[in-house]
Amino acid sequence: MSELNDRPTANEYVAAEQGFLPSIGDLQAEARKVVNVASVKHRSPFRYPGGKTWFVPLIRKWLTTQAKQVNHLAEPFAGGAIVSLSALFDDLVDGVTLVEKDTNVAAVWQTIVDGEGPELADKIATFNVTEESVRLLFEQSIAPDDLIGRAFVTIVRNRVARGGIMAPGASLMRNGENGRGIKSRWYPETLKNRFLDLHSVHKKIRFHFGDGIKFIRDNSENENTGWFIDPSYTVAGRRLYLHSVLDHETLFEEAAKLKGPFLMTYDNADEIRLLAKKHGFAFTEIPMKNSHHAVMRELLISRDLEWVKT
Ligand SMILES: C[S@@+](CC[C@H](N)C(=O)[O-])C[C@H]1O[C@@H](n2cnc3c(N)ncnc32)[C@H](O)[C@@H]1O
Repeated sequence: MSELNDRPTANEYVAAEQGFLPSIGDLQAEARKVVNVASVKHRSPFRYPGGKTWFVPLIRKWLTTQAKQVNHLAEPFAGGAIVSLSALFDDLVDGVTLVEKDTNVAAVWQTIVDGEGPELADKIATFNVTEESVRLLFEQSIAPDDLIGRAFVTIVRNRVARGGIMAPGASLMRNGENGRGIKSRWYPETLKNRFLDLHSVHKKIRFHFGDGIKFIRDNSENENTGWFIDPSYTVAGRRLYLHSVLDHETLFEEAAKLKGPFLMTYDNADEIRLLAKKHGFAFTEIPMKNSHHAVMRELLISRDLEWVKT
């Protein structure tokens, strides 16, 4: 159980503010239908706030029934990239492209793509996490060209920060799980193996450090590229991510021009429903369990969503 269980998550705040918080009865009924995230093999090295583990079964269904022409999946707001990586490991696509604007998160993806995953895995496996060692690590300055060093600090921070939140000002875990303090999410062997697994497919991963909207604009022509678009949403995003201010209107305009099929997930907000309607997109609410095991609904947006119902 998470130490943050007693307080609403950022998503819940947004839902409550927007008047979309479903009744307890609705939530309990939906809880029986939602995806069991424990059944999804975790491919990402990150604990990602807003991570989309719950979406993995849906992307499988989409790629195998609806978007069969897709041989490459692009994720322009990659974060922990669980969806693209799962599709790649499941052999549903030949390759993936991840795009991310956060320098620290980018360092991790770039390290993997450069073939340096094993070196990062070794650093993780041999690091002894204590309050002192972590404090010293965070106090060190990182040379601008030390990509692996930056990636390593990012992974440590992601593991020892409350809720995995890497944005400035996020605090470290105090009691953690079972009183294990900052060690409670530090599983060096598991992490090492995730990096080694990623290394085994690293030639099929491309990484682009930069703006997701611009990337969509510049790469819209390929019909065989599918898109999983999971942008930070303004209100929740502000607390969770360093880069959370996004021009949603422009993002929808660029999505409308894509030649390949796309799926977008968003917080369940009126503003977003209006944008979807304006562009003639289909949208539906998908129940999911967040990291605090609360059942929430997120919006799924695409050109066609009939396949979700079957
Ligand atoms: C909702 S999170 C993605 C979570 C991801 N789907 C997962 O499962 O882990 C959004 C990500 O987009 C990044 N981001 C925000 N604005 C961006 C931009 N303009 N271009 C690229 N990435 C951006 C944030 O840093 C964050 O990592």
